[in-house]
Amino acid sequence: MAESQFHLRIESHPILDFGDREPLTFTFDGQAMTGREGDTIASALHANGIKVLGYHFKTGRPRGYYCAIGNCSSCLMIVDGKANVRTCTELLRAGMVVETQTDRGMPDVL
Ligand code: FES
Repeated sequence: MAESQFHLRIESHPILDFGDREPLTFTFDGQAMTGREGDTIASALHANGIKVLGYHFKTGRPRGYYCAIGNCSSCLMIVDGKANVRTCTELLRAGMVVETQTDRGMPDVL
């Protein structure tokens, strides 16, 4: 499968060796995407140009990759049908179904 046209992945680094990592396919909101072995879900989405990972449950404002260490809850998504998964710390697996978490069912407070 071809990589996304929004490919933002760093391929080389002066100090770190990324090595050869297997490509992994997954879906994001029904769209086929490719990540690499060792990616977190959020890093794979970022490499594919996806910046909005969900929406705040009260305000509806877009939320994205922020702390990247599992502390802020800005990256909560639905993964394989399970809600509130911190995608910045969850490793990507082949065939994962990743969905944007919306404010479905929440009162409109705007
Ligand atoms: S980006 Fe902060 S918990 Fe995931």
